[in-house]
Amino acid sequence: MKFPHQPRARQFLLYLLVCLAALVLPTAVMAENGPPPLLLGTAWYPEQWPESRWEQDLTLMQQAHIHFVRVGEFAWNKMEPAEGQYDFDWLERAVNLAGKHGIYVVLGTPTATPPAWLTQKYPETLRVDDTGRRDEHGNRAQYNWASPKYRELAREIAGRMAKRFGHNPYVIGWQIDNEYSQTSSDPATQKIFQDWLKQHYGTLDNMNQRWSGQYWSEWYSDWSQIPIPLHGGIDSGNPGILLSWRRFTSDTWRSYQKNQIDAIRPECDPRMFITTNTMGFFIWYDHYVPQQDLDMSAWDDYFSNGKVDPAANGAAHDLTRGFKQKNFWVMETQPGFVNWSDVNPPLAPGADRAAAWHDVAHGADAVGYWQWRSALNGQEQYHGTLVGPDGTPVPIYPEIQRTGAEFERAGAVLKDTHVESQVAILHSYESRWAIEWQPQSSKFDPIEQLISYYRPLREIAQSIDIIPATRSLSQYKLVVAPAYNLITAEEAQNLIAYVNGGGNLVLGPRSGMKDIDNALQVERQPGPLVPLLGGRVEQYYSLTQPVPAEGKLGSMTAEIWAEALSTKAPDDEVLLTYGKSNGWLDHAPAIITRKVSKGSITYVGACFDAASMKTLADWMARNAGLTTPLPNVPAGVEASQRYGANHVVTILVNFSGSEKDVPLPIPMDNVLEGGKMSTVHLVNYGVAVLDHPR
Ligand code: GLA
Repeated sequence: MKFPHQPRARQFLLYLLVCLAALVLPTAVMAENGPPPLLLGTAWYPEQWPESRWEQDLTLMQQAHIHFVRVGEFAWNKMEPAEGQYDFDWLERAVNLAGKHGIYVVLGTPTATPPAWLTQKYPETLRVDDTGRRDEHGNRAQYNWASPKYRELAREIAGRMAKRFGHNPYVIGWQIDNEYSQTSSDPATQKIFQDWLKQHYGTLDNMNQRWSGQYWSEWYSDWSQIPIPLHGGIDSGNPGILLSWRRFTSDTWRSYQKNQIDAIRPECDPRMFITTNTMGFFIWYDHYVPQQDLDMSAWDDYFSNGKVDPAANGAAHDLTRGFKQKNFWVMETQPGFVNWSDVNPPLAPGADRAAAWHDVAHGADAVGYWQWRSALNGQEQYHGTLVGPDGTPVPIYPEIQRTGAEFERAGAVLKDTHVESQVAILHSYESRWAIEWQPQSSKFDPIEQLISYYRPLREIAQSIDIIPATRSLSQYKLVVAPAYNLITAEEAQNLIAYVNGGGNLVLGPRSGMKDIDNALQVERQPGPLVPLLGGRVEQYYSLTQPVPAEGKLGSMTAEIWAEALSTKAPDDEVLLTYGKSNGWLDHAPAIITRKVSKGSITYVGACFDAASMKTLADWMARNAGLTTPLPNVPAGVEASQRYGANHVVTILVNFSGSEKDVPLPIPMDNVLEGGKMSTVHLVNYGVAVLDHPR
């Protein structure tokens, strides 16, 4: 840097001033403005690299328009190399250097990977599997989530991190741990579970009754007799104890997480969020439980088969958005390919960018790539990255760079916008567990059921919320509960109030079979909703062959599962009847509906093929008066809206496999390229972001 026409001393002074300003100004500006509204980011592991390399990495990130890094989540050993010896200096240098490059930081608490000294000294913190084998060092998530000692140590490291970084201007938030998953079956945890049961059921008598304890002598005369179900109940166990174990697991994840939140929150600026990264429809705990204590939801979005299915992936986004019913983050996604599937094909050129916009379309405010650069050793050497082992960009880098530039351009328009939906699909972990344990047909997959409704309804309504049945429902024109197997009294009350208030409820097959203890409802299906429906399920059948069905809805084809329905109320209407099939189902009602004040309740007794689901979705849309925000969108192009106070951002992503034209009802601003458009031409994986008044 040279300042012509100045004496040497003054030159030096000026130079110093400029350097100081360069250091201080971005800090002030970044702290004051906060992060951009739409962020592209990456997982960065500075602890794995010489410090001399950081500058180059951050420069390459900056050139890719990356504005956040998530760091620290596996670096406990580097932060505390020996018990009580803390070293956060390196992390602070990394965070501050990122900040100098306009990159904000999400700090991960490192509790998914305890150091070797820790588990050696406190072996009781290691999880124990069903066979009684204690886990060992060398992988991750080897800790016991219920261990009081582990919590003490986790609280200490999280609290110390928060004390050090709670006011750092570049730190915008915290990720607790990483992808909660494993439980432990050790005797100490068994005792905690037994205490939980005692608290939950009060008396053994009550618990035994509710679990039908006289079945197979499953009657307990002392709390200490109660086992932990094997494999989290996948293989065996009374449905009551299985459900209790998963509820206990979920509560224990909540308290595991709360332990760290309580250490971090008091030490931090209120502007910092606390989140954790979940895994889509991961089933081992009830995500609605720990999510209550977080500021924001975030998930890790991977396509192990190299394909983006916009319905399946969109549903996972909408599930995550539904945790807190607000915008969320995609904390991790793959640059190209993963390493953990049988075959790990890459996403096609352009598909990563399309997926990033698909994320935003569903309410993501940030997309983070895992990971920046692969560690030279370790378990994930083959995973996709942005730069190679030599530290220079890999072929996907320019695509991500383009996405980053677009995020920068579109951020202002997307700021303070959110998704609004006319339709809610109800989702319950408890129902999924109940079916997983006793599937009756191995072909019946509750998530596939959910997506079979989601896919055609999403095309019509262009947005769907996925939420549990306990939430407020009155804002929805249509509420669909596919395979809502377990309905508690509280949920039933909410659903009945929704229908009585004019809502349109559609129950899918297997709904309302179980009660709060995973016991059979004595009314048969749909349990507490039988009186409102005025009909019920007489019998259920696993299908080995497709079954034809006919009626007011036209011709449809049932598969996998079918229930013979009956109507008792005179105002019940049969919409579809089974044709000839297994003898038991022949000519029985397959779909029935009943008007209730201004609303309706409908029971769909079978799984149907894709064409039939489209027919059914069209009927549901007509019956509930759904509208299509942007009509005439060609099949395969996903249209979504994010709403601001007085404008709407429409996002189009072409997943159809070929070029498409989308006619617009009014000219709209082309956010990514400038100008106005009346027709959008999209190449395969093409994206358009359009702004227009509300
Ligand atoms: C998960 C983890 C990451 C990484 C990726 C690889 O999402 O959170 O640490 O292992 O998988 O796909």
